[in-house]
Amino acid sequence: MKKIGVLISGGGSNLQSVIDSTKRKGVLKGIAKVVLVISNNLHAYGLERAQKEGIKNIFIERKYYSDDKSYNAEILKELKKEEVDIVCLAGYMQILGKEVLDSYSGKVLNIHPALLPKYGGKGMYGKYVHEAVVKNKEKESGATVHFADENYDTGNIVIQEKVEISQNDSAQTVAKKVLEVEHKIYPLAIKKVIENIEKKED
Ligand code: GRF
Repeated sequence: MKKIGVLISGGGSNLQSVIDSTKRKGVLKGIAKVVLVISNNLHAYGLERAQKEGIKNIFIERKYYSDDKSYNAEILKELKKEEVDIVCLAGYMQILGKEVLDSYSGKVLNIHPALLPKYGGKGMYGKYVHEAVVKNKEKESGATVHFADENYDTGNIVIQEKVEISQNDSAQTVAKKVLEVEHKIYPLAIKKVIENIEKKED
């Protein structure tokens, strides 16, 4: 059973989809469990979700640390304390530090609400992604789960799924369609990565 640590900043609907997938008939049942949720935002609803699920949840905010290094060292310390195997960024609005990435090489995933490499990079998050997609009259968008690295949205892609966009779609309706796909593919991508890690461990 692999232990997942999830980093969030907001609502945590992706966190919820990962938690749900570890239960009942979910794709991660018996394979993984979420043992820790870290938020850099005290008011993130995702913290409440974790609380309700009985999952350890902590708040670690950058401004209380003198630099990125000590902030990320704290995150790493907490992940290690819970013996986390895989780190999932789920609406975590910050770049993860080198300390954590090096320690969890090939084991840090991120989800992005677009078909990367399109509509990625600094400033391309949340509604800005969907507004740009609609403005450019794209015929499709989607969601991407990829390995996280020290840049925004550039790591290798694990799973990507498309949604169709019609002329009547707004940024809000595209966001809704994409979010549904996000909830489906994040657990699947985690499963794929775990299976690959286990193959290497054999
Ligand atoms: C999602 O669209 C995710 O792709 C993006 O931020 C949003 C987070 O939603 N990075 P939630 O907090 O998981 O509900």
